[in-house]
Formats: sequence, C-alpha cells, structure tokens
Amino acid sequence: MVEKEVEKNIEALLEERREFEAPEEFAANANANEASIYDDAAADPEAFWASQAERLDWFEPWDTVLEQDPPFHKWFTGGKLNASHNCLDRHLDSNGDRVAYHWVGEPGETKDVTYKDLHEEVCRLANSLKDLGIAKGDRVAIYMPMIPELPAAMLACARIGAPHSVVFGGFSAESLRDRINDAAAKVLITADGSYRKGNVVPLKANADEALQDTPSVEKVVVVARTGEDVSMTEGRDLVYSEVVEAASPDCPAEPMDAEDMLYILYTSGTTGKPKGIVHTTGGYLTGVSSTHNLIFDIKPDTDVYWCAADIGWVTGHSYIVYGPLANGCTSVLYEGAPDHPDKDRWWSIVEQYGVTILYTAPTAIRSCMKWGTDFPAKHDLSSLRLLGSVGEPINPEAWIWYQEFIGAGKAPVVDTWWQTETGQICISPLPGITTLKPGSATKAFPGVFADVVDEAGEAVGRGGGGYLVLRKPVPAMFRTIFGDEKRYVETYFEKFGNDTYFPGDGAKLDDDGYFWLLGRVDDVMNIAGHRISTYEVESALVDHKSVAEAAVVGRVDPKEGETIVAFVTPKEDKEGDDALMEELREHVAKVIGKLARPHSIVFTEDLPKTRSGKIMRRLLRDVATGQELGDVSTLQNAPILEEIKAKAESQQGDDE
Ligand code: WTA
Repeated sequence: MVEKEVEKNIEALLEERREFEAPEEFAANANANEASIYDDAAADPEAFWASQAERLDWFEPWDTVLEQDPPFHKWFTGGKLNASHNCLDRHLDSNGDRVAYHWVGEPGETKDVTYKDLHEEVCRLANSLKDLGIAKGDRVAIYMPMIPELPAAMLACARIGAPHSVVFGGFSAESLRDRINDAAAKVLITADGSYRKGNVVPLKANADEALQDTPSVEKVVVVARTGEDVSMTEGRDLVYSEVVEAASPDCPAEPMDAEDMLYILYTSGTTGKPKGIVHTTGGYLTGVSSTHNLIFDIKPDTDVYWCAADIGWVTGHSYIVYGPLANGCTSVLYEGAPDHPDKDRWWSIVEQYGVTILYTAPTAIRSCMKWGTDFPAKHDLSSLRLLGSVGEPINPEAWIWYQEFIGAGKAPVVDTWWQTETGQICISPLPGITTLKPGSATKAFPGVFADVVDEAGEAVGRGGGGYLVLRKPVPAMFRTIFGDEKRYVETYFEKFGNDTYFPGDGAKLDDDGYFWLLGRVDDVMNIAGHRISTYEVESALVDHKSVAEAAVVGRVDPKEGETIVAFVTPKEDKEGDDALMEELREHVAKVIGKLARPHSIVFTEDLPKTRSGKIMRRLLRDVATGQELGDVSTLQNAPILEEIKAKAESQQGDDE
C-alpha cells in the first residue's frame, strides 16, 4: 500500500516538476556559478583547460596545452608532474591530518586514514616495489578489495612511474589472467580475500589459478584482509605488511612527463578481447580534478564525499582515487554490499559520517527504490546536499525518487555521462548553474564539444536523435589501446573520421539542446553500469561442453535496466533443462565473473539465421524485449523464431 502511494507520488512529482532550477542558496555558494564559464571555455578551450591544469602542482611547466595529429592528441607537453605528489604530498603541510578516507569494512570495522598516513604507506610501498625490481614503465597488476591498501597501491605505482592495471575483484581467474598477460605485468598486488554480503571471496585462490599461466609475473604481494589461510608460493609470494614495514618511508615522487602512462584499465569492446585503455598523467589529472571540483562542488574543508562505486572500474579510478585526492577532500571508502547486513547499510554510513555528496549508479538507486523508503527513512540524511548518478541512463522515476527520498526533495542530482575512454565526466549539469531535467545528463561540461549526428556524421540539431560524438578531445581522454593502435583508430574514429570521437552511444537533443542518452548502439551491454559485450558472454557459453551454439542480447527495460538474455542450442544429446540453465550461468560466472551471468536462458533447437548463416541478433533482441518482430524475410529458418518467441514469453511469465 505504502509503495503504491510512493509510486503515485513520483508520477505526480514528474508531472509537476519537469525542471528544477539550481536552488538559490546552493547557487550562491557553488564553485561554478557564472554561466559565462561555458562561453569562455567554448571561445578558447585550451585557455580553459590550462586554467584547470594550473590547479595542480607541476615540477616543470608545460610548453603546449594541446598538440593534435588526429586521432592522436597530447596534452601539456613538456610539463612534468607526479600524480601521487599531487594527490598526497602537496596537501601535507596544510592538511596532513585531514582524513583522506573514512574506511568502512563490510563486517563492521572502521578506520580513518589521514593524508599523512596514506602518504607514508604509499612511500613505503613504492620503495618495496622498487626493491622487487619495478622500474619506471613496468606494469603492476592490482586485484584487490575496497580497502585502503588499494588506493595506496595505485598511488605507489604512480609515485615511481609504474603504470597500474587494476582488475575488478569480481572478475574471474581467467579474466585476471588475460589482463595480466595483455599488459605483461611484472608484479601482482592482491589480498587473501574480500568480503561480499557476508561471504569471503577467495581472491588469492583466484589469483593462484590465473598465475599458473602468466609468465611475466615475478612477485606477488598479498594483503591479509580476511586472515584466512591461503597458499603462499615460496620465492614468489610476499606478505604486504612485512614488505611495507621493512621499507623506508622516504620516497621522492618521480617527475613524470605529462604524457607518461599513468594506468591501463581494461574494458569490454565488441570482440572477445578486452581493450586496455591507456591513460596518461597530466591531462588525466587535470580532467578529473577539474570535473570533480566543479560538478561535485567540492569544499574540501567541510564536505564528506562518497562515491559508492568500486575502484576496479573507471568511476573509482577517477572519482574515488585521483579526483578526490587531487582536490584534497575527505571521502568515504566502503568495502561491501549496500544490503549487508541490512538494506539500510548505506544510509547508516551517510548518517554516521555526515556524508554531504553521494555519487552512485542508477542500478543501485533502483534497488533502493524496490527495497522501499522505510530504509532511508530510518536515518538522518539531512547532511546530503548533492547527489550524482553515473553508468547508464537514469530513468526519470529513479531520478525523482533519489532526489525526493535521499536528497530531501531539494538536493540537485547531477547525471554524469562519461566512459572509461574519456577518463573524466563529459556531459553533466553544473549544479549551481544548470536547470535540471530528470533523465537528462543536460549539457557538455565547459571545454567539451559534444554533439549528436546522423549516420553521415551531420549534426542533427535540436529536436533530433542519432549518435553521440565528441568533436574535440578532452584532457583526460585515453591516448590509445595498449599494444593495439590499429584497434584504437578503427573502433573510435572509423565511423566519422579522425576528428570525431565516436563513443558508441545513441543520444537525442531536446529543444533546449539538452542531451538525453539512449544507451549503446553497438554489441556492448550495460549491465548494472558495467560494460560487457554480447560476444564475451557468447564465447563463454559455447566454451561449455553441452553447448552447440549461443546468441546473447541485452534486454532493456527503462525501470529494470539491462539484463542478459541468452539463446542457446544444446548439443544433440543434451537436454535444455533447468539443471543445464543453472550450470551455464555458473559457467559464465567462472569464465568472466558473476556480473556476466545471463538473467535468462532460452533453449532452442536452432537460432534465426540469414541465408549466409549469420545469426540475426536484431530479431532476438525483439524477442527478448517483447517487441513486434522486425523484417524476417531474409531468414533461412523463419519458423524457428515463432518457437523461440513462444518459449521466451512462457519463461518471462515464470520470472514474474
Ligand atoms: C554508459 C562508466 C547514460 C554509456 C563511467 C557509456 C551512461 C558507458 C552514463 C561507459 C549516463 C555512463 N547516462 N549512459 N550518465 N554514464 N553511461 O566505460 O553507454 O564503464 O558509453 O564508464 O556507460 O561505461 P564505462
């Protein structure tokens, strides 16, 4: 009953309040409150980005803001700086005792890590890495839970100029292995395990499995997080605390060229092989610190900021580690699930630390909506003054719910569009300036040239829909795909030419020129804000001994988000029953990670194919989303589609 009331309420609110002006008091104190910032940046983007770069500490100034040889670009060439110095050392004199992270472990322990503490840990670990043979340019893989040692490990790498490659702790041994091998990492930093919903995730055991086939790895450093017994390989594996304690706390930060590599982060593309997205130092740090400051309106003396993502994804890299630390602010770092031990865990953390800014994903907001308003209502959330969303389009209902029940009906909601590739937020409101529309990421950030174009690359103009593009690079934008420049050019620039970056998203522009993101237009799915390609899941499925053929599509529901639907043809002697369905789901979890498990599997004798034998995914997508079937005239086996459709519909009935 209560839920029904809330639902009605949201509909009424949507009707009433389609637009939200920046609250007066918020605007008066906002870091960005002059609309002229947009025109100024548009008139001279390089001057704008240079002004943002000046917020950092440079060992040597740059000669040129932007050097372009499209599709390649370099920022702040000639300049020297160090990311770890910018995130730590420069805050020590005035704010060394400020808390960098209020860490909260899932089982309940807490720890406050100050900038001074973090600096010391980073320096020691950096020295240990050097002792282990890591030199500037060597890659270090990191596979860790959300504990303070994770940002420390990243910054230790940055301090000595060793690019890190963080692999999300929810990925499988096989995914970890492939990423380690692609980057040829020399050292792996990991933990014995991590906590998730009260269970222990066996990180070290996964790592051991991966390490059976990773010839580049010489040493493994293991943090004792759970204290469970894990196997340690003599001569290869070292205990983190021992290594760190033995090292000197004195480690000057290596002056890096602005264009030196800071990190690699893997993301799914449309083929099976993940792409190693390469980020460099000066432009990246400029982009993340600028956007973090202006979009989240950071007041480092008073704000408690919480980005509830995982550091294993780009959101965590840019907006838990590099942006917030570069800006010297205090963050919450929470290890576990939002519903452990109960569904008010997040709200109890907000209350405990007086969180002022919360940044999360629509999928999490929708879960909270389902759980109901009683959970947030149990806690005092009045400290929250600004809310953020990222990862996928946010449906207006979820936006309104977020503002109404988490933001006390008044906190601005900034819906931020960006990608692993862009490194920094590109489309977002500035909360002291922009009039908000629930469901729209609103406008390009100052100095960002976003547009929507048609198939021919022509601007569609206001009121039109098509492909999102960026007409100029942003400083934090990636420079290439690690070891595969050809793929960089082909994936992102083939469609519209070298001057126009194509992110792979559809979008429309409304009559006010606001951007409304429509989701991916390629074979990449967005599952709970994480990118997974249909091809990866298909490969994992056909890798199973009972599967002859598989096709995977994303089923998009504006209220539920995207889920994975697999159409599977079992081998002749195999039965497509519930047991096989469960086995296949677990198999995908083992090959890729739990996040890639299909939500539903439809078994079918055959898949719809063209006469040349190509699987028609488009039609399967229509089946999965319950839409009218598109043109079936080119199919060699049209009748199978009706069968599949009937099966899928009966299964959906079961779901409900
Ligand atoms: C999607 C996450 C709509 C988009 C930072 C993009 C969004 C992909 C939004 C990148 C948003 C991200 N509105 N869609 N506010 N933010 N996306 O690399 O499809 O994990 O291309 O980076 O997520 O995902 P990635």
